[in-house]
Amino acid sequence: MPESPEKPHTIAQEDRNVSGERLFSPSAARNRDAIRDVFLKHMPVRGKILEVGAGTGEHAVHIAAAAPGLVWHTGDPDPASRASIAAWMGHAGLANLKGPHAIDVTQECWSAEPENPFDGVISINMIHIAPFAAAEGLFAGAGRLLKKTGKLFLYGPFSRDGAHTAPSNAAFDASLKARDARWGVRDIERDLIALAQNNALKLETIVEMPTNNYVVMFCKI
Ligand SMILES: C[S@@+](CC[C@H](N)C(=O)[O-])C[C@H]1O[C@@H](n2cnc3c(N)ncnc32)[C@H](O)[C@@H]1O
Repeated sequence: MPESPEKPHTIAQEDRNVSGERLFSPSAARNRDAIRDVFLKHMPVRGKILEVGAGTGEHAVHIAAAAPGLVWHTGDPDPASRASIAAWMGHAGLANLKGPHAIDVTQECWSAEPENPFDGVISINMIHIAPFAAAEGLFAGAGRLLKKTGKLFLYGPFSRDGAHTAPSNAAFDASLKARDARWGVRDIERDLIALAQNNALKLETIVEMPTNNYVVMFCKI
């Protein structure tokens, strides 16, 4: 179905529970240990990280607590998410968490600190539940904002060279597209690697994760 330029820009979130200003994502509770462990194994653990689409802020708190050598900047375009991130930051009391910044990767020249490059950019469960322009903006920003040694880290459900990796991912893709025809599970080979090539990035590592998800990491060319 063609995209409708008139369609309002919708921002979708995962299911969330509420406690005061802090939001709790059941999916983040399930995947945060596995994501943290892969992050610590493959990504820089010193320097500056920028997380886009940080949602409730739970991944930021969880990983920043395990990597005190990092300064972890959080960003999200959604005000309720930013309020939750701020509340989680206050609750955690970690000196190495910054933001939340109002970052929408579909905007031109988005950044938390335009004058300073980052050691890593991370986005968890974002590009399938947003128009493809968000994936394009994420890769363009990563190409622009990362240091020469910097890396882009993505987590989510992805298809492989045109094929879903599980029936549940095919059903999820169909449900995303039914909600908004611009959304959908992205393909590692056909979407992400092409975007990387256009933005001076190359595929570095793919890690299979529980429940048919992947971590996909890119480095600068
Ligand atoms: C499904 S939620 C995932 C949140 C969190 N990363 C997690 O895994 O729990 C998607 C998040 O991406 C954010 N988002 C949507 N469009 C975006 C955009 N254009 N730029 C940056 N973030 C965006 C939403 O506000 C939301 O917080």
